[in-house]
This record gives sequence, structure tokens and C-alpha cells, in this order.
Amino acid sequence: MADSSEDGPRREREWVDPPERFAEAANVTAADREAFERAGWPGCWERAAEMLAWDDPYDAVYDDAGTVRWFPGGRLNAAYNCVDRHVEAGRGEEVAIRWEGKLDETRTHTYRELAEEVNAFAAALRELGVGEGDVVTLYLPMLPELPIAMLACARIGAPHSVVFAGFSADALATRLDGADSGFLVTADGYYRRGTALDLKRRADNACASVDHAVEQVVVNRLGDERPAGDGRAYADLVADHEGAAVEPASRDATDLLFLIYTSGTTGEPTLVRHTTGGYLAHVAWTSHAVLDLGPDDTHWCSADVGWITGHSYAVYGPLALGATTVLYEGTPDHPETDRIWRIIERNDVDVFYTAPASIRAFMKWGEEHPERHDLSSLRLLGSVGEPIDETAWHWYRDHVGDGECPVVDTWWQTETGGIVLSTLPGVDRMRPGAVGKSLPGIEAAVVGPGGERLPAGESGRLVLTRPWPGMARSLCEASDWGARRTRTVDGEWRYDTGDNAVRDEDGYLHLLGRADDVLTLSGRRLSTTEIESTIVGVEGVAEAAVVVGSDDARRESEIHAFVSPEANVAGDGALRERVRAAVAETIGTVAVPDVVTFAPSLPKTRSGKVVRRYLAAIANGEDLGDTSALRNPEVVGELESLLDR
Ligand code: WTA
Repeated sequence: MADSSEDGPRREREWVDPPERFAEAANVTAADREAFERAGWPGCWERAAEMLAWDDPYDAVYDDAGTVRWFPGGRLNAAYNCVDRHVEAGRGEEVAIRWEGKLDETRTHTYRELAEEVNAFAAALRELGVGEGDVVTLYLPMLPELPIAMLACARIGAPHSVVFAGFSADALATRLDGADSGFLVTADGYYRRGTALDLKRRADNACASVDHAVEQVVVNRLGDERPAGDGRAYADLVADHEGAAVEPASRDATDLLFLIYTSGTTGEPTLVRHTTGGYLAHVAWTSHAVLDLGPDDTHWCSADVGWITGHSYAVYGPLALGATTVLYEGTPDHPETDRIWRIIERNDVDVFYTAPASIRAFMKWGEEHPERHDLSSLRLLGSVGEPIDETAWHWYRDHVGDGECPVVDTWWQTETGGIVLSTLPGVDRMRPGAVGKSLPGIEAAVVGPGGERLPAGESGRLVLTRPWPGMARSLCEASDWGARRTRTVDGEWRYDTGDNAVRDEDGYLHLLGRADDVLTLSGRRLSTTEIESTIVGVEGVAEAAVVVGSDDARRESEIHAFVSPEANVAGDGALRERVRAAVAETIGTVAVPDVVTFAPSLPKTRSGKVVRRYLAAIANGEDLGDTSALRNPEVVGELESLLDR
């Protein structure tokens, strides 16, 4: 470790080498990396496609006749790839899913059991009338039935649309409508910190408010024998179709595997569509190369399957490789703050993949918790979702990884489908605080406002300059280039990620956060515009701005709303409750502001634009710097004193 005694930017030059033992056994060695690169783009991606079983071989790795296509002509089935082929290879008794429920309940599904239930549910979906191409919405908590339903959809060629269970009825209705989805798989409820929450009522309310008919299937989680209200019981359907064998639908590589709604820069949810061949090849390859997973590994990606991270690295990636994936229903501090470590210990987890916000919470709870558990099964640690600072990086490696495990800081997005920037754990040196260079086969650049490439040390917009297999389908379509911020600059293909970044002298990329109105918090992606417009819709509210804040002492990221009430309206507890209730109802509890600060006005530029940067500094207890560009600089001082702590 060089230079670590020095402060400030010099620390950026710290290197941490992968341990020799890890490097020797890693899935991808330096020679593999070279071979991948030597193959050249796009041919190098054939390596990823080779990890899958194809019904029909593809005609080319890539083509672009106005629309980008990965593996055109190839046909495959994602469920066959994630389930059947492992059983056919004699691995049916290996564990596919290990589920940890609220208290100490556990469930395991071997690959054979997974195949049986996926087949039975696929047959049931067919009987309900789900045809190839029909969108099935899955509004389920973290139960094994969620990946099972995803795979059952994939088996019959019905794209799934998973809606995070923390979203409200309104949010679900918007997504059912937008995807024109006539089928919903939900549950009676779920447990959160030991309390049973009603999901079915939300599902019913959503179905009642969409224009088309929605057929429901209900998973029993809370113990009610039969679902109240509409819908067929999942358990009955699976029992009725026990022993069914459903031929996997042979899908074109470019056919839809799933859609997922994410938050964009507008107030409306953004629809992202992923393909069968490109997406699956990308997540299988990155699970192998970056997460270093193989069939003998147990992987725990702690993200909820309702978000892209859970789709790619709790379900499709690890299962495509025949690994064991851990799913956990609860929260990390329930019933005790050592729950995470108990799960790792009990399941002999090899690779743990989580978000910096969680790591900061673990730090706050104290290293005595991981230290009380035997975490020696861990081989590799991963981070995703936001920049991980050097302190958290070192804490993670020292106290969870026993000072030995490599840490991969992986950057990607819902739109990229899978990891695009990261070090390769057995090959590249790590630099805490930096994601590394781009993966082989990926090209990234930092550009200025005119699209010009910036030299090291200058921050600008992170762009990807070549297509990659996991790219969302909308990015493939030329007609959408403008809308999806994909464009050509002097004939160069470019995808503007919306993130700011800076490259250091060694070419390592440091991410600086979003440049637009998307906020990411604990691995969840939300739109500030959507939350703000909901708050402004509350009677008595004139203006609102939302930022992510945290303070060092608490080490927790939180949603801060700065709200200015209309004249003669008191910014009191009652208004605060109405603000919170409105967000819970329109978007869901996941977006409810933790801190609501009332203020007579918000900091604005002379042209009247609210400057969130100052609000973020206040929420983070940081130095405000120069505020002279503001029309109303006095308000920032006032806001600091009003902060709702
Ligand atoms: C942020 C989650 C810094 C980034 C996979 C991106 C990160 C957004 C990192 C996408 C990282 C993700 N370092 N920032 N390693 N990983 N981000 O779509 O701002 O939920 O644009 O996908 O998360 O969030 P999304």
C-alpha cells in the first residue's frame, strides 16, 4: 500500500494488490483478460455468449443496421439456461436458492426442485391464458416465489415486469397500465421488522384503478389459507400442475426477457427493456469475471430482486452459472444488528455483494458484530449503487473480508443491464475510492460539455463509447438515441450515463454522482422530480426540493426534503405528516423523506432555479463554499438553522 500515509488527493494513488492466492484461482487471469482484449470489439463478446446454451447459433456477435443487435439469429431460453441445463448436467441435487425468512426460517431449493416448481408455475401461467409476449407483473416481496415466477415467465417467453413491493398501489397501477399487463403475481403480505404488512390490499386497489382486467395470482406468506379478494392461490396452481413439463420457448436473442421501471429525470417512471441473449450473456459473463462465481459458490447479493441489481446478480447471473444464490426477506438489523453476519456464516457465503449505504450502516453498528462471526467462507466482496469512500472500502475489507478479500467496486445502471466498470478481482490492482478502468469489451470516456474528451484530473460526464451486450433495448434503437441520450459525435456512438466522473493519472475512474435528477439511496433508484412534484401537490406547499443527505455521526443516507409552505400556512408537524403520507401513497414508503425541513424559501439562482447543491451541502453538514451566485444567499444560513434534526 503506497502513499497511504498522506492525506487528500494523494490518497487516490493508493494501490491494493489482489492477494496471490485469489489471483491464482480466479476465473479470469491476466492471460484471459489479454485474450479477451486481443479478440477486439465486438468479437470479444463471443466469450460471454459461449457461457450460454443456444438452441440455434447466432449469425454474428453484433450487427448494426440502424438498430444494434447482439447475437442476431441466435435462439435460446433463459430459464433453460438458468435451471434445466444444470439438472441435465447431473447437478440437480445442488442448491440453487437458499432463502432466509424473517426470524430463523429457512428454505432451500435444489436445481431439481427449482425446475419442478418453475415448470408447474409455467404450466399454470399458460392455463391462465398467458401467451408468448404477454407481460406478467410480479409484485412480490423477497420470497423464493419471486425468482421462480421470473423463471416461469422466461420459460414461456412472457416478459416479466417486477415492481418493488415497497411501492404503493398508485405506483403499481401506473406500471400495470404502462406495460399493458393483464397478469399480476402478488402475495397476501410480507414482514418488515417483524410486522406483517398487507400487500394484497395495495394490489387490489391498483387493479381496481387500471382500465383493463387483471388476473391475479396470490402467494400465501402471512398464513391465510386462501387469498381474500380476487385471485387464484399460487400454492393451488402449483399443486394442480405438479409434474408438468413445459417445453422452454425458444426465443430470439433480441426478444424481450423483461421490462423494469426505473426512475429517470422526469416525474414519470422510465421503462427499460432487456433482451434475452445480450442481457443474459452480459450478466453471466460479469458474474463469472467480476464476481468470480462458479457452480460451487454461494453468492449473496443483498439487493431486493425488485431492482435491477437483484435481477442481474441475485437471479439471472448466479443461476446461469449454476451457483447458489441467497435471498433474504428481512432488514439487516432485525432482530439484531448481526443478522447479516449470521446469514453469511450459516450459508458459507463465498461472495457478498452489497451497497455502500449498507456498509456505512454496518460501520455504525460496530465491527464487534462481524468479528463475533466466522466469516472465513468469504472470498470476495463487492460494492454497487453509489461511490464507496475509502474509509468504508477499508472497513469492508478489514472487518468483513479479514483484510484479505479483494473488493470490487462495480459501476453500472438499470440501462446497462450488468456491470460495465470494475476491476477484475484476480487481475487488476484495486484503488479504494475508484471503480477502476472499464471492463474488457467496454469503452468509457469522460467528456466536457461539448462532448470533447477531457484529460486526467478534469471532471465531466461519463459516457460509454461503444455498445455492450447488456444494453437496454431502447439504447439499441436509433430512433430513440435522442430520447435515451445515445448519440453519435463525429460518427462515434455514445451513451451519456448521466453520472459525473474523473479519471486519475493512472486511468482509474472515480465516480462523482449523478449530474441529473436521479437519486440513488441504499441501492434504490428514485427520481427527485417525482418526489418533488408529489410534495408540491400537497395542499399548502408552495415549493419543494429533495436531496440525499447523511451525517458522519449517523452514517446513514437519508432523503431530505426542503419544503416551503404557502404564505400563511404553518410548516408544522401536521404538514410534515401530510407530506410524508402523500409520498407514501403516490410512490411508496421507499421514497418517504426521512427529514422534512420547512423554510420560507429555497436557494435559487438569479434565473430562479433551485440549487440543490447547497441543499445537499446543508443536509450533509458540509461547507457551503461560495454562495454569491445565488439570488438569495441569506436563505442558506437560515436553512442550516432550521434543519429538522
Ligand atoms: C449509481 C444500480 C458510484 C450511479 C446498479 C448510477 C454508482 C446509478 C455505482 C444507477 C458505483 C451505481 N459507484 N455510483 N459503483 N454503481 N452507481 O439504475 O449514479 O439503480 O447512474 O442501477 O447508481 O442506479 P440503478
